[in-house]
This record gives sequence, structure tokens and C-alpha cells, in this order.
Amino acid sequence: MTCVVVRLITAIWCWLHKDVSRIFYLPIVLCLTYMVLKAIKLYQWRRELNKALKSFPGPPVHWLFGNVHEDLDKVLEWSKKYARAFPVWFGKFVVFVTLNDADYAKAVCARGGKRWWKGLLTLQGRKWFQHRKLLTPGFHYGVLKPYVSLITKSTQVMLDKWEHLITQEKSVELFGHVSLMTLDSILKCAFSHESNCQIDRSTEQYGQQLSLDTGCRFCMQCGFSAELLHREGCHSISLACRDDLGKMPYTTMCIKESMRIFPPVPLVSRQLSKPITFHDGRYLPEGTLVGINIYLIHRDPNLWKDPEVFDPMRFSPENSSQRHSHAFMPFSAGARNCIGQQFAMIEMKVAIALSLLRFEFSPNPEKIPRKIPQLVLRSKNGIHVHLKKIHWH
Ligand code: HEM
Ligand SMILES: *[C@@H]1O[C@H](CO)[C@@H](O)[C@H](O)[C@H]1NC(C)=O
Repeated sequence: MTCVVVRLITAIWCWLHKDVSRIFYLPIVLCLTYMVLKAIKLYQWRRELNKALKSFPGPPVHWLFGNVHEDLDKVLEWSKKYARAFPVWFGKFVVFVTLNDADYAKAVCARGGKRWWKGLLTLQGRKWFQHRKLLTPGFHYGVLKPYVSLITKSTQVMLDKWEHLITQEKSVELFGHVSLMTLDSILKCAFSHESNCQIDRSTEQYGQQLSLDTGCRFCMQCGFSAELLHREGCHSISLACRDDLGKMPYTTMCIKESMRIFPPVPLVSRQLSKPITFHDGRYLPEGTLVGINIYLIHRDPNLWKDPEVFDPMRFSPENSSQRHSHAFMPFSAGARNCIGQQFAMIEMKVAIALSLLRFEFSPNPEKIPRKIPQLVLRSKNGIHVHLKKIHWH
């Protein structure tokens, strides 16, 4: 290839020497050469990719719309038919290889790759490494403990709001409130900024933009259960007040099981920075877009018995110890996993424990959440829950 380029440039040079006025052609010719070279490269890469994709059968592709689907149940169906991985097409040219296998995910997480979309979330290479090194001590468990009281205050504000909203028959939509609460507490903890955003309506818009940890809100939805209160209830919260968050084993198991069934980040995407060969011999060339489908891995019947059943006991130490290292990865895995995961766990424990101390929660059967995978897993129709105040004697 370089040989061809050198010859082309020499030829252009000789030709130019014959007539100086042609000097104006030079940029045009160079531009064209560049474009042709790019096109050849793209064509070769595409051929290579198509060859590799032959060993990845997948769902039928519409000639214009591809086969991308928002319906998670449909995608789950595909994952049963096309084991481990299948291509998903966005139109005719862009293809993501969806990985729904823990071994495949492990291989990709270990190798790394680039995030293809745009803070820390999209920095690459050395710059990412420097920022990550700078931030990591800020999220250490010891550093996080003092945040408990800040998160507690944010949660109390939210619960006070709920008390005003309680009515006998109407349910309350919780997503918006929990959203603002997580924003309020991260602003306080990370930036020492008292935004007052839970009360002050003028900051609402800003809340919608800054929604990195929106995912956590979804987990809370099924963590709310009366059973939890009976198991740990008061005890857990007195422990939380003593900053002993490590000692809420059953709550932790419930949160994990919630994040298994409803992974807040259902899919993480990478562009492979090197070609990769999987344990079964299939391979993908460099530059391919892959999506690690956490939602599907969390429902893999080879890893999880009766995957649709909510069962916190799956996360008992005994049951967890022999599980595949990448069977459960709500915070992703490898070098680019979630830097905020300890913070998020503490926040969820505090918020859930305090909420269960104050209210009894039951779902509104007429408004069951309809999940949709966006950047985070959300509910199309909100999260509607009946609240009943608990009166302690
Ligand atoms: C339940 C709550 C949360 C979940 C499930 C979650 C999940 C994730 C996942 C899956 C990734 C990898 C994304 C990717 O590779 O494309 C990630 C990255 C990240 N998360 Fe979280 N996250 C949560 C809460 C938080 C919080 C509260 C913070 C900040 C305080 C945070 C900060 C970050 C950052 C900075 C990254 C990028 C890390 C890097 O690229 O080195 N997350 N998170
Ligand atoms: C392991 O999980 C099963 C099924 O959820 C449960 O019945 C069992 O009690 C758990 N075992 C332990 C030791 O926690």
C-alpha cells in the first residue's frame, strides 16, 4: 500500500513540474488520493468483517431498518436462538455484535477497547488513565463513609415529599423523585454543593441532564419489599446510622438481585482495539463494534436457574462463590468498570433502608413498569407505587 502511495505522489510531482500553473491542482489531487485510500481501507475492513460475521448467525435483517429492537423480551428470545453472540444491524451499514455470554464478556473486558460515544466516560488512553487515577481515591470505601449522613438528609427530603403526596387509592410515581434525590446527594458528596434541587423547581431541567446514575433509581423499584423490612428493618437502619453499611447482608443481596433482573446499565459498548479470538474459535477483527449485553447475561439460564424469579438467596456468600466471574456485572468489569459502584451501593442501602422504615410499598397493578433500554434501563410509563405510612409504636 505505501509503495502505491509513493508512486502516486512521484507521478503527481513529475506531472506538476511540467506546468507550474498546475500547482493549484495539487491539493485537489492529494484530497482525492486520500479519499480513495480511505475507501479501499474501509472496503477491505468490511470484507474482513463480513467474513468473520459468517460464523455469527443472527435474526433477520430488514434492508433499510436493520434489525435493532427496543423490546427486551424480543432480544431475549433471540439470545436463546443465537447462542453467545449475534449481530444487530442499525440500517445497512452499522453493525454491533451483541455478546450474551459471560465468557465472551470476560474476553472483551480483559482486552479493553474504546468507547465509541462521548467527561471520564469517554476519555481514552493516557488521558483516561490519568483522570481515573486521580478520581479513584475519592471513591474509596473509607472516604465514602462520611457521605452516609449527607445521603440520609437527601433521602429524608424525598420521603417528606412523599408524605405530602400520599392518598389512599392513587399511587405515586417515584422515578422523578428518586432521580432528583440521587442528583442532590451526588452534588453534595462530590462537589459540596447544596443544590436544593429536590425542592427548587428551577433546577429540574439541570437534573434531567445530569443523570449519570439514573440507573440506580430503577434498582430501587424491586428492592422495596415488605419482606425486607421484616428481615432487617429497624435493625439495619440503626446500623446504617452507625455507618456500618457493611453489615446489611440481606439488603445487599436484595439490591444485587434487583440489579440482576433490572441491570441499570443494560448494555455497554466497545470498539475493539485489537482483533479477538474467543474460546470457541470464533473471532472478530479490529474496529468491530461490540455490545456486552448485561441484561441477557443476567438472564442466561446456564448461569441462573429460573432467571425471571426474584431470589436474593442467589447472592448468599455460599451461592456466589462458585459463580462465573462475569455472570453478574451491573457495574461492568475490567479496567473500565464503574468508578462509582461503592458510592452507588451505599446510596441504595441508605435510601432503601430509610424508605422502608417510613412506608410500606406495593405495586400498582394497573401501571406495571414497561422497561425500555436507553443509555440506562428506564420505565416507559414511570414507576407507580402505593405508599402507606408506617406508624411505629
Ligand atoms: C446503580 C448505580 C450505577 C450503575 C449500575 C453503574 C454502572 C456503570 C457501568 C456499567 C459503567 C461502564 C459503562 C461503559 O463501559 O460504557 C459505569 C461507568 C462509570 N460510572 Fe457508574 N454506575 C452507577 C452509579 C454511578 C455513580 C453514582 C457514579 C459517580 C459517583 C458513577 C460513575 C461512573 C464513571 C465515572 C464511569 C466511567 C468509568 C471509566 O470509564 O473509567 N456511576 N457505571
Ligand atoms: C442458594 O440458593 C438457593 C436457591 O436460591 C437457596 O434455596 C439456598 O438456600 C441458597 N443456599 C445458601 C447456602 O444460601
